Amino acid sequence: MVKILGVAGSPRVNGNSSLLLDEALKGAKEAGATTNKIILCNRDIYPCQGCRDCDKTGECSVDDAMDKIYNLTTSANGIILAAPIYFNSLNAQTKAFIDRHQCMWARKFLLEEDITDPLSRHARRGLFLATAGVNDPRTFDGALKVMDMFFDVLDIKYYERLLFFRIDRRGAIKSHPTALHDAHIAGEHLVVEIARSLGELMD
Ligand SMILES: Cc1cc2nc3c(=O)[nH]c(=O)nc-3n(C[C@H](O)[C@H](O)[C@H](O)COP(=O)(O)O)c2cc1C
Repeated sequence: MVKILGVAGSPRVNGNSSLLLDEALKGAKEAGATTNKIILCNRDIYPCQGCRDCDKTGECSVDDAMDKIYNLTTSANGIILAAPIYFNSLNAQTKAFIDRHQCMWARKFLLEEDITDPLSRHARRGLFLATAGVNDPRTFDGALKVMDMFFDVLDIKYYERLLFFRIDRRGAIKSHPTALHDAHIAGEHLVVEIARSLGELMD
């Protein structure tokens, strides 16, 4: 069965990006996936301390909630990450979560170890959902660069990104004519794409 991990990056619980995530996860479930959701602001996740211990060990020396999360981000067939834009980038909780994958970067590129299953990694896919308040889509540019690298380090191919601007007050996303529906469909299609790609391996 396809396993999808949802990551809610916003500190605003049930905010705009979280509503998108919930719809995408509903779609994924309807398409037959098992889903799991992490709400970053409910976990103790410290920023990377730059100690570089992981360069040698591949392990992060910070002892916090990430210990249990690495297994989820490396074993899921698909990741749906939803976050708001803060100062033209990802918000701090999301960026800290991403930076803490430096140990995966070290394992992969310095220690030359597999961080994901070599047999199924070709089918790993990512969906990025983001909301921003201003009337300018360029506000997503910084976050997109970060997400490219995050998915790349985790052996994930981009499936799709849904970016909604001029969405500011809490719940504003509900007034968008298509956003929640788009996220639902994207979640469904993500699972279909992963299943198709996994199936090719079986053929
Ligand atoms: C600290 C802070 C910084 C923000 N910076 C930006 C920004 O640079 N560009 C933008 O379009 N919106 C910005 N916003 C607005 C949020 O991106 C917007 O309200 C978003 O929909 C919030 O999503 P959420 O409800 O999932 O948290 C900022 C909001 C906050 C609180």
